Amino acid sequence: MRKFIQKGVILISAIAFSFSFFGCNDKTATTEPVTQTGRTAEDQLALTPPMGWNSWNAFGKEVSEQVIKETVDAIVSTGLQAVGFNYVVIDDIWQGGRDSVTGMLYEDAKRFPSGMKALADYVHSKGLKFGIYSDAGTLTCGDMPGSFGYEEKDAKSFASWGVDFLKYDYCYVPELVSWNNDYKMAIDRYKTMGDALKATGRPILYSICEWGPRSPWLWGKEVGGHMWRTSYDVADIWDTPRNETSPIGILTSIDAMANLGRFSGRGGWNDPDMLVVGLKNTGFIKGGGCNEIEYRTQMNMWCMFSAPIMIGCDVRNMNEETKTILLNKDIIAIDQDSLAKQGFRVMSKDGLEAWKKPLSGGRFAIALFNRNSQDKTITASWKDLELNASARYDAYDVWMHETTGVSLDKISAKLKPHESQVYVFTEAKKNN
Ligand code: GLA
Repeated sequence: MRKFIQKGVILISAIAFSFSFFGCNDKTATTEPVTQTGRTAEDQLALTPPMGWNSWNAFGKEVSEQVIKETVDAIVSTGLQAVGFNYVVIDDIWQGGRDSVTGMLYEDAKRFPSGMKALADYVHSKGLKFGIYSDAGTLTCGDMPGSFGYEEKDAKSFASWGVDFLKYDYCYVPELVSWNNDYKMAIDRYKTMGDALKATGRPILYSICEWGPRSPWLWGKEVGGHMWRTSYDVADIWDTPRNETSPIGILTSIDAMANLGRFSGRGGWNDPDMLVVGLKNTGFIKGGGCNEIEYRTQMNMWCMFSAPIMIGCDVRNMNEETKTILLNKDIIAIDQDSLAKQGFRVMSKDGLEAWKKPLSGGRFAIALFNRNSQDKTITASWKDLELNASARYDAYDVWMHETTGVSLDKISAKLKPHESQVYVFTEAKKNN
């Protein structure tokens, strides 16, 4: 299914080129993200990390009009829409083919009998937004027709159907003669579709799915992207080694995000892939399944990262634990915080980690995380957490939904295997 035609490597020359190609320099990469107010409609599309649902993890090639409509209804009735999940994205294998005379892409008539425009209208009628998938190569990763050479035509079709979001994959892209040109090809192909989307005049959120080998965080925004994958596909599994091909586990994807914070911010986000929360080894992608603690850690870390949160489970059939994870407004508020800063690792010892995410209003989100397969107690001092050593902090537990108290100089938590706890730290007033 996944034929990654070009196994890219991160080349020093590639990085150097992409900086000079776009006139970027180290200074621009480290300054605060530029506020997009007053710029084009595309720039306004992802001022906070996109939230929604994608069909791939649960349905794969079984996606259909009926599934999408029922999913839309469930997103509304379960309250997912109310907490911010608003994009409904049809992933690969919706296509029926490409007309050999007109060159127009069309949907599979059996699974989408009313057509994409009617389906988009249904999604919009419920106050949600409609997303679709294509690929920069000649075929998609699921062997359907890709957009290579048809970018303008396809972008126009998507706009005419009412598409609000395009996920654009990177299988079957023709190879260039040398490895050194691999990344140039990616920039070129993604820019071609980015320009085609802009030319339609319809604001369409552009999700780059190149998986990371060609460092899309360096050029994603310049080609019109609003989010870019930083890893291969996350399966329903806690850990598999190395981020070299699909699938990987949750932990591997977390590690792939660790040093990329400076490339994420308002308008363009690092994307560690869709959530596997709630799949429980059902649906399309499988992987063996994770336990509730591991699913909660995925939600915690994605929100610590200001990552797009795209649900991957069947929302028509969520159990109470899955609902609790996906409907937690306190953790979602960390993801959507207006400061738009990706969290970073401040402490790592014996498989115990602390991560910190600056929040608006001078607050911080702190995640304490146990990578080990045994219960462990973690203690992090204000020094470890790079906090003001002479301050006292109120720590609000986002899963207990209560302030756990004020401490003078450290915080401790007993964590089960793979468990994480997240707190919002606010400096306590003097004499508290
Ligand atoms: C690639 C992508 C996945 C999914 C499939 C569809 O593997 O990374 O997220 O879109 O293709 O074929």
